[in-house]
Amino acid sequence: MIPINEPLLNGNEKKYLAECIDSGWISSEGPFVTELENKFANRIGRKYGVAVANGSVALDASIVALGIGVGDEVIMPTFTIISCASAIVRAGATPVLVDVDLDNWNMCTDEIESKISCRTKAIMVVHIYGLPVDMDPIIELVKKYDLLLIEDAAEVIGQEYKGKICGSFGNVSTFSFYPNKHITTGEGGMILTDDVKVAQKCRELRNLSFIPPRRFIHEELGWNFRMTNLQAALGVAQLERLDEFIEKKRQIGEWYNSLLDGINGLKLPLGEVHYASNIYWVYGLLIDKNLEINALEIMKQLHDYGIGSRPFFYPMHNQPVFKKMGIFKNVNLPNSEYLSEKGFYVPSGLGLTFEQAVTVAEKLKTIMSNAR
Ligand SMILES: Cc1ncc(COP(=O)(O)O)c(C=O)c1O
Repeated sequence: MIPINEPLLNGNEKKYLAECIDSGWISSEGPFVTELENKFANRIGRKYGVAVANGSVALDASIVALGIGVGDEVIMPTFTIISCASAIVRAGATPVLVDVDLDNWNMCTDEIESKISCRTKAIMVVHIYGLPVDMDPIIELVKKYDLLLIEDAAEVIGQEYKGKICGSFGNVSTFSFYPNKHITTGEGGMILTDDVKVAQKCRELRNLSFIPPRRFIHEELGWNFRMTNLQAALGVAQLERLDEFIEKKRQIGEWYNSLLDGINGLKLPLGEVHYASNIYWVYGLLIDKNLEINALEIMKQLHDYGIGSRPFFYPMHNQPVFKKMGIFKNVNLPNSEYLSEKGFYVPSGLGLTFEQAVTVAEKLKTIMSNAR
């Protein structure tokens, strides 16, 4: 099987993990947690880092720490992972959805202004699959309407927008370190901000809202969203190689770009947009509208050839869970619906070899030559 993803763990990971075990520091109180927070914040050019259990809870804590709650609206793309919408809904606020661009798969910035109301408190941008959102129009809107900006940079660790690093734009920016991300801690995530109060609030929320001086008395309800020292040890080792990993991801993207060039009925991801060049978090492909075959059918055939793949995101406005809750009634966002039916991605983890990419490309060519 050619797996959809395989992380690279052959740097200092073992050495740092052994340090945790030898010293006995395995919980969230160990020194690698602070080291990862400081080094990661420094790499992205932010003042404060708060390490958490994963990228989903990074969003939950951020929303609450920013004071977003009942009665507030947050504008976000419908084409993303559910964590973005669930963080807003759980806080009692309302997600307001915009569609995404058919070429770069990121939120349509020109749809945002018409969705701003007197209840809008924030815009949540989510950089998708390795290409950033076009930030300039969003920054303008944030200033014009005095909004908060939440930046979900889980899929673009180390990516830049017009030479400025992603994750440096939001009042709060969040990251995931799941094994398919550019760097991994197994499970893990990070919140970055320049606001000391927001950072402090996130620290409290991730630790059951224990507040000094008397432990076990709580003014608020927090969560246990802590990252362990073991995870942070992995993260410190991974971060040392971020530039190398981005280079490898770009190389994988280039392999596929040349191997898949000219296949009828398949649209390849954009290598460049005017503000960034792709770091191919995943290598996504889109089937032409005029073909009947959908992504799930191609993925099934890839699986039969021993090749892993994943479908694109499923839009928030069609999620059964939100329909049951009565959220997003009569919302139609056709680009995202099309992407969810016709988009999929192929093995693109850091461990992928050129030979594996060649096999994937050959099998895809065979599948597409029979596709109607
Ligand atoms: C954009 C985005 N945000 C958040 C998450 C959630 O991260 P985690 O899986 O670490 O909870 C993901 C996961 O892939 C993601 O792609």
